[in-house]
Amino acid sequence: MSTFSSLGLSDWLVEQCKQLGITRPTPVQENCMPAILEGRDCMGCAKTGSGKTAAFVLPVLQRLSEDPYGIFCVVLTPTRELAFQIAEQFRVLGKPLGLRDCLIVGGMDMVTQALELSKKPHVVVATPGRLADHIRSSDTIDMKRIQFLILDEADRLLEQGCTDFTKDLEVILSVVPAKRQTLLFSATLTDTLQELKSIAMNKPFFWENKSEVRTVDELDQRYILTPEKVKDAYLVHLIQKFQDEHDDWSIIIFTSTCKNCQVLTMMLREFNFPTISLHSMMKQRQRFANLAKFKSNVFKILIATDVAARGLDIPTVQVVINHNTPGLPKIYIHRVGRTARAGRHGVSITLVTQYDIHLVNAIEEQIQTKLKEYPVEEKDVLKILTQVNVTRRECEIKLESTDFDEKKEINKKKQMILEGKDPEFEEKRKKELEKIKREKKKFKGKIQEAMKKKKRKTMKRRLEGKKQSQTPT
Ligand SMILES: Nc1ncnc2c1ncn2[C@@H]1O[C@H](COP(=O)(O)OP(=O)(O)OP(=O)(O)O)[C@@H](O)[C@H]1O
Ligand SMILES: [Mg+2]
Repeated sequence: MSTFSSLGLSDWLVEQCKQLGITRPTPVQENCMPAILEGRDCMGCAKTGSGKTAAFVLPVLQRLSEDPYGIFCVVLTPTRELAFQIAEQFRVLGKPLGLRDCLIVGGMDMVTQALELSKKPHVVVATPGRLADHIRSSDTIDMKRIQFLILDEADRLLEQGCTDFTKDLEVILSVVPAKRQTLLFSATLTDTLQELKSIAMNKPFFWENKSEVRTVDELDQRYILTPEKVKDAYLVHLIQKFQDEHDDWSIIIFTSTCKNCQVLTMMLREFNFPTISLHSMMKQRQRFANLAKFKSNVFKILIATDVAARGLDIPTVQVVINHNTPGLPKIYIHRVGRTARAGRHGVSITLVTQYDIHLVNAIEEQIQTKLKEYPVEEKDVLKILTQVNVTRRECEIKLESTDFDEKKEINKKKQMILEGKDPEFEEKRKKELEKIKREKKKFKGKIQEAMKKKKRKTMKRRLEGKKQSQTPT
């Protein structure tokens, strides 16, 4: 069995790992680190919580200690919180080196960031949008000598989801040297392999964990079938149950929209659960602060959108609840991967309505495991149903009286301006499209109605014909 020393790490780095309880390399570390230390590009695909971060942080620190200069390494990642976490890991493991790192993410002051960048930190951890903004607005960032370009959650950075990073990546790729090492990591790399290979051009070393099952064995994956209207009552019931039975457990609840995130947080607080939220409509300082409060156990329940689905490493999380069934199996894999990390046990419970069953089938097919039903005493849930639904409605009304929707509109407009679009023109275009859609729907409705009428007439005629032929003469 390999040790970190036998993989090529210096004693100071081995000692540093030991202090953090990292004594034996995990398979992704054992397999990818030698290739990275040899100077090869690398693509690593391993399950959630399997130590992919250290698999790239350790070799970078090893190389940096041999020839320290800035900017030596750039790490890109899709969310600000994940960038913060990776920078922290570099800082902790690289402390004996006097490592200087720099966090370049949106929602924070750009001037301060530019100043930090000009001091040539060893490692820059960034979200693509903000780093590309810095590159566009200044030609003084010296990335010409970087040795490592790392894409953590690489598949997300390349796919065109609600946040599209591809343009920003192009800007970044245009200023980094062609002669570099490119490292790509994720728990779900496989469906973006071709695009990834065009970034890691240098015959990358590819490693993937062999198992068919895409989720970890220590995760108990459950579902509850529920009508939409009873979902929240199940949620309150589950949280109450976990709080009663395990008061040291932390829970993450994933939901699909910022607004629902906010409503659920308000609602659970009405039931006196220590709840805090994380979504993209919050100010960045608040996002970091909320996550810190959840990590330090001040709050035991975090309600989040998919901004928290990837990469976050919070060992106290024992339960993940999917308030909505994720539309993509990939998102499911990352969400439930927030628990049962590094060999620990965990539970995930997905609330499934009758309209989501096909999504569960797709998830099961992709992860090669069946979810099991989570047993619940239905009568206990029905007992609290009215109270929960009334509380939810009250919270919705309270939220409507704030300017939540208005803020959302302003944020949308800001985003459009940043993307170089004209918000007024886009608004008009949207209205036109909606009008066309409505008219199409009306037209379709008319045709369907006419066809129904015709069908009814033919049926009637046939029936009458039959009756006549059956009437005895
Ligand atoms: N060799 C090791 N031995 C024990 N613990 C480790 C080892 N390597 C990493 N860890 C710990 O395992 C946890 C999960 O690691 P990490 O966050 O890197 O997972 P990941 O593979 O990146 O997961 P995800 O796909 O969710 O991003 C961290 O707390 C980390 O400190
Ligand atoms: Mg990770």
